[in-house]
Amino acid sequence: MHPRLFFSTVFLYSLAHAFPAYHSLVGMTDEQIDIFARSNPYVGALPPPGPLQNTSAKLVNDAEHPYMSPGPDDIRGPCPGLNTLASHGYLPRSGVASPQQIVDAVQEGFNMENALAVFITWGAFLVDGNPLTNLLSIGQKTDETGQSPSPPAIVGGLDTHGVFEGDASTTRGDAYFGDNHSFNETLFQQLVNASNTYGGGKYNPQAAAEIRWIRIQDSIARNPTFQFLTPRIDTAYVETAFPYRFWVDGRLNTTDLDLDVARGFYQYGRYPPDFYRREGAFGIPGNPGLARDIAILAEAHPISPGHNEGVGNYVLNPEDLGLRGNVRYSCFYFCGLVVACIRLICPLPFALSKICYIYTKHANVTVRSLYPNPQGPLRDALQGNLKTFYNALGDPECPQIPMW
Ligand code: HEM
Repeated sequence: MHPRLFFSTVFLYSLAHAFPAYHSLVGMTDEQIDIFARSNPYVGALPPPGPLQNTSAKLVNDAEHPYMSPGPDDIRGPCPGLNTLASHGYLPRSGVASPQQIVDAVQEGFNMENALAVFITWGAFLVDGNPLTNLLSIGQKTDETGQSPSPPAIVGGLDTHGVFEGDASTTRGDAYFGDNHSFNETLFQQLVNASNTYGGGKYNPQAAAEIRWIRIQDSIARNPTFQFLTPRIDTAYVETAFPYRFWVDGRLNTTDLDLDVARGFYQYGRYPPDFYRREGAFGIPGNPGLARDIAILAEAHPISPGHNEGVGNYVLNPEDLGLRGNVRYSCFYFCGLVVACIRLICPLPFALSKICYIYTKHANVTVRSLYPNPQGPLRDALQGNLKTFYNALGDPECPQIPMW
């Protein structure tokens, strides 16, 4: 055995005993251990943060979190919420963060409820982040997230189109038109016009429902590659509700978002002066709650999941559950759990809640397509992160997907 390999083997064996995450290294070949040693630092999956103890409204644009314009090497991306948290120092100003830092930041800076924060963050991290180093770029792909697992994994940051980021965004163009992450003034003017027409000069649920529909219709009319399937069909409505839930000052107790404040967040990633986060954490269940918001927004202009086959030709995908509410479905999944069920000999009847369907499709289709056969520490990291994603559902009736 080469001396370097000997020492790395001894070192990793001792690590394996010190830290459970390294246990899977025991039994690996010398070659595998050497590859692992060269790709250090390995962090792997870590548990998510818990909820805030105190969820009352409070000043978050404070002296400890001043706005600073991003420097030339700082990364910003399609999410104005995360851009804001990075530019105020709740996230690393570089725009590269762990999923734990993201959950802490969205809780502290906006009062997002814990399970919602973990579900969204891990949904994105699993497809856009680096499971080996536990780092995610909130924008473009970067070496700062460390050495990536090999393709078909992408580890491309939140800008990556089609695995989490999608079409018909409010103030960002479709990837087909060349830029899916930068603020787009033309689209923002549509938001202003619709807010004046339907919201009495504010971005509120009435205006938001119309803007959501305008953006969908625009993508259908002009984008031949338009896709509106789970999970994008859900996140499109989620992002439409977030501004009137998270960007209205917590002392006001309304859902009427001022348009200058909206521009500050969407365009500059900046809190208004003296901004207080909302009163009480905002999550999926309850009233107010995200599930209810999505149902109300979608009811104004119902649409089924589908995709374009040429401009203006929206073709439905009836196998996708889409936005059919947070009710339980009895579905015959003749291998609807694509690979897992094929191996298990189906059909089996599964009653899947909507959020369970999002988890199932994301894990079984998207994550699996990026990581068809992970091994060793990579596999451990993915398993740990998939478990966190699953636990955030809080739905014991949702079958956990057996991966790999
Ligand atoms: C919890 C972690 C979060 C992650 C991983 C995340 C990720 C993303 C991504 C990838 C997009 C682009 C989706 C697309 O349009 O195709 C997006 C959009 C958006 N996010 Fe976030 N986000 C998070 C939290 C937040 C928070 C806390 C807020 C508000 C305070 C927020 C507000 C928005 C809004 C308004 C958009 C739509 C932007 C537009 O279409 O113009 N997000 N987010």
